[in-house]
Amino acid sequence: MPLIIVVGAQWGDEGKGRIVDYLAAGADFVARYNGGDNAGHTVTVGGKIFRLHLVPSGIVHPHTIAVMGNGMVIHPHTLIEEMTTLRSAGVSIAPQRLHISPAAHLITPAHRALDRAQEAARGRSAIGTTGRGIGPAYMDKAARRGLRMADLLTPNFGERLRAHLQEANRTLSLLDAPELDVETEAQAYLDQISRLALYIRDVSGELALALQRGQTVLAEGAQGTLLDLDHGTYPYVTSSTTVAPAALSGLGLGMNAAREARVVGVVKAFLTRVGAGPFPTELQGKLAERLRGTGANPWDEFGTTTGRPRRVGWLDGVLLRYAVRVNGLTELIVTKLDILSGLETLKICTAYTVNNTHVCDLPGGPDALASCTPLYEELPGWKEDITHVRRWSDLPKNAQRYLERIAALAETPIKMVSLGPEREQIFAL
Ligand code: GDP
Ligand code: IMO
Ligand code: MG
Repeated sequence: MPLIIVVGAQWGDEGKGRIVDYLAAGADFVARYNGGDNAGHTVTVGGKIFRLHLVPSGIVHPHTIAVMGNGMVIHPHTLIEEMTTLRSAGVSIAPQRLHISPAAHLITPAHRALDRAQEAARGRSAIGTTGRGIGPAYMDKAARRGLRMADLLTPNFGERLRAHLQEANRTLSLLDAPELDVETEAQAYLDQISRLALYIRDVSGELALALQRGQTVLAEGAQGTLLDLDHGTYPYVTSSTTVAPAALSGLGLGMNAAREARVVGVVKAFLTRVGAGPFPTELQGKLAERLRGTGANPWDEFGTTTGRPRRVGWLDGVLLRYAVRVNGLTELIVTKLDILSGLETLKICTAYTVNNTHVCDLPGGPDALASCTPLYEELPGWKEDITHVRRWSDLPKNAQRYLERIAALAETPIKMVSLGPEREQIFAL
């Protein structure tokens, strides 16, 4: 299957990085198609932890070529820092291995300042963004005034950058936020960014050719289905298209690339969300603390990008069915099943009540979620530590039942189960 698209089926942080790293063993190219360094993807290999924000997670395998597509927004300083960290961990980052689309947009210090100022201005209705400048960068893209990777190579880039910073200062002053020192910021930005020129390639053409040759392209989604700008819980969403079809437009691939594509939805065995917005199955108190963890383990539920504690809850079957539909998922991979070991009873939301009516779908889309009360099905838990299990038949019966119920609700097969953050802590069904 030459194109494999990996997407988050929930609100992000499902373990996409860990799954992409695993699948990348069989891929030639690993390509990010949306978002920027709001993403935090964790890869764990032999106890070594890589926290990736911009570089695709497949980079840890030395045979892969990592691609950053036109759908991305790139903060150059973060990218250069990430490249340096990877190099010092022994990962080769040469221009032959990392290719950036000329049409990818740039995030500037002004976008970050505007993100923070706009969040402050929203007051109690703040979205809880990551503060990485994602929204303002996509705003400039839609307004057709953004700066792109290709602009780096043009002689008037410095002039355009300064004009952009001055324009942002006008908005910052309207928001009563501190203005930027245009000359200092411009100089620091120009010093950094010139180093990226060597990495710019026609990735759209390169990936189309790779697929024609029968090579495997692994598209790595960032964020998750319910954070999608159109299909998520608007306005509590990110500013990019996160769902699987965006892998085509975000990499410059045509519809023919989607024919027979494998579309993998990564599903955490429970549910988490960072930032504000509706979350019908959210838990509070002791059970929430138990699922979140204390922060003592690297996999506990604290944001990879911001360190914020994640909100936690039971798996939501209605939202999962919705994710299957809007992404066209052909299979599910379930992560963090190990975290549920030891819980006496597990719950799965199978439907909602809205105004005394029973609903199993989201007729009005996820915007209506705030008024939905979940209806639960209870399943018995299991006590055994399952982190060493490597085949279906070794899973406790109740863990098998839990997974079977998820697959039945989603009407989609589960193809792999992850039981720990390490590359090998996974098995196929
Ligand atoms: P992503 O944004 O979807 O790539 O996910 P994150 O990396 O932000 O968060 C997932 C966290 O769970 C990371 O710390 C992973 O190392 C960890 N993780 C992934 N799969 C598993 C698993 O099956 N079990 C456990 N215990 N941790 C996992
Ligand atoms: P990965 O790829 C979880 C959330 C933020 C906020 C909303 C908008 O690691 O799964 P933004 O900064 O994008 O404008 O914030 O989206 N958010 C994520 N939540 N995982 C992510 O990425 C996220 N990226 C953004 O918390 O609620
Ligand atoms: Mg993450």
